[in-house]
Amino acid sequence: MYNVIILSVLFLFSAHNVWAKMFDYNMERANLLAEESDLQVGGNLRLTDEENRANEILMHYKNEEVDESFHNPKHFNFSRHYFAYKNDIGNSKVYQIIRRMPKGAALHVHSSLMLSADRLLELTYEDHLYVCSADDNLKLHFSYSVPQRPCPFKWQLLSELRNSTENLQAFDDKLKSHFTMYSDDEKDYTGDINYVWKRFNKVAETINDLIAYRPAREKFFYEALREFYNDKVMYIEVRSGLKILYELNGTEYDRMYLPRLYHRVAKRFKEDYPDFIGIKLIVSKYRATGINQVLDTINIARRIKEELPDVFAGFDLVGQEDLGKPLLDFLPILSEAKKDMNFYFHGGETNWFGTVSDENLVDAILLGSKRIGHGYALIKHPSLMAAVRNRDIAIEVNVVSNVVLSLVCDVRNHPLATYLALGMPLVLSSDDPGAWGADPLSTDYYIAFVGVASKKADLRMLKQLVINSIRYSALDNKGKFDMIRQLHRQWNAFVRDIIRIFG
Ligand SMILES: *[C@@H]1O[C@H](CO)[C@@H](O)[C@H](O)[C@H]1NC(C)=O
Ligand SMILES: *[C@@H]1O[C@H](CO)[C@@H](O)[C@H](O)[C@H]1NC(C)=O
Ligand SMILES: *[C@@H]1O[C@H](CO)[C@@H](O)[C@H](O)[C@H]1NC(C)=O
Ligand SMILES: [Zn+2]
Repeated sequence: MYNVIILSVLFLFSAHNVWAKMFDYNMERANLLAEESDLQVGGNLRLTDEENRANEILMHYKNEEVDESFHNPKHFNFSRHYFAYKNDIGNSKVYQIIRRMPKGAALHVHSSLMLSADRLLELTYEDHLYVCSADDNLKLHFSYSVPQRPCPFKWQLLSELRNSTENLQAFDDKLKSHFTMYSDDEKDYTGDINYVWKRFNKVAETINDLIAYRPAREKFFYEALREFYNDKVMYIEVRSGLKILYELNGTEYDRMYLPRLYHRVAKRFKEDYPDFIGIKLIVSKYRATGINQVLDTINIARRIKEELPDVFAGFDLVGQEDLGKPLLDFLPILSEAKKDMNFYFHGGETNWFGTVSDENLVDAILLGSKRIGHGYALIKHPSLMAAVRNRDIAIEVNVVSNVVLSLVCDVRNHPLATYLALGMPLVLSSDDPGAWGADPLSTDYYIAFVGVASKKADLRMLKQLVINSIRYSALDNKGKFDMIRQLHRQWNAFVRDIIRIFG
């Protein structure tokens, strides 16, 4: 009897022990997961009841999409090149929801590659456009008379060529192909990084030709703002190299003309669409040029800051990092310029660990860059990553750009996944959406949300990223406050829309 009691006590005790151990294990497991969940971007946000209902709907569709590919990896499009599935994205319910989401600001875009090829094609219907077409090269020039610029074949009026063509659709499609890197033929878009950048630079050159004509540039910029606005972007920080513009009679303007034009067109746009907040300018210069050219551009940046203080945001160096000059080459003039202006440097847009281009990240941080463009390579640098976090320098991530420009194939391997999990200071942007036919911002959000972020990342992450776009902008405190207030209204309407339309 006594033994039985002892035995059963022992039994109970050990069962209790096993049970307690299980309990401890589950607690610990849940705590670890909760710790990570809190740490990620958006982890601290609390949703309202209405947002929670919308979140359930959003996550239902997201889980469906991810599960489908988890069980059938060959259906997973985000491990392929963006061009391979670009035209199928529209079917996704998550994408349709993200299209409607108010996105705050786009903080990393280059002025001449903001507009879609379809709208660019419309600009070729303007009068007096001459074309010089030889092999696969295309030069464009607006003029009253035959342009004086050299042409290996001959300058012809585009309108005449178009009038005499048998197949207008084919003619326009061919012309349009010069305005975009998009192709449905895989051999056109796979290749090493230098090959891809060459194609990219060629597209940029052709477009810059088309929009160097002052009236074309005005229409171009207005239409670009409209495309961003329709994608629910309310404020844009535009990087521009301040190209020279001309008129039909050959008159050329100085480099102060373009910033004034941006200012004027954005003002007109805001009159037409009062809830649009506006633009600011990040003056940029090709990093492959000489010190004196960079210094000239910095001096123009100083003039813009003086004449248009509300428009001016700062300065940047752009172009393929591996082939350009490192920031270190410009250290003396950049250290000097730092006293007058903010920097928004591209940095770490490379796969070459430990090279001079990789180390641009160090100089971007030390020169006090307010944000870092791409920061793709930052993940390999623990001390720099800590510095970026401590100094609250936002990384401007452009996922689609990194795919098209050959840094990453399967976006699950994009370092953004880690930056999101660590709760790093982050904004999403689109770099050159016109050049690859992406939406101004929705495509990047969609691919980051479904393809890169944790399966469990939800509406809170999206909301935090939108808030970040305002927080890390160059707006002053009042500007940020007003924009957050407006976002709040738009966000509530968006949440109700999800429930009404997708619920
Ligand atoms: C992936 O792309 C294919 C076409 O290439 C399309 O048929 C399919 O629906 C897409 N899958 C998903 C999950 O979106
Ligand atoms: C092209 O055709 C249209 C109408 O068919 C005509 O009005 C126009 O003058 C023509 N342009 C040229 C450059 O021949
Ligand atoms: C050239 O055209 C522009 C714009 O139409 C005009 O303002 C300017 O006066 C013209 N210049 C000359 C020299 O005709
Ligand atoms: Zn860029």
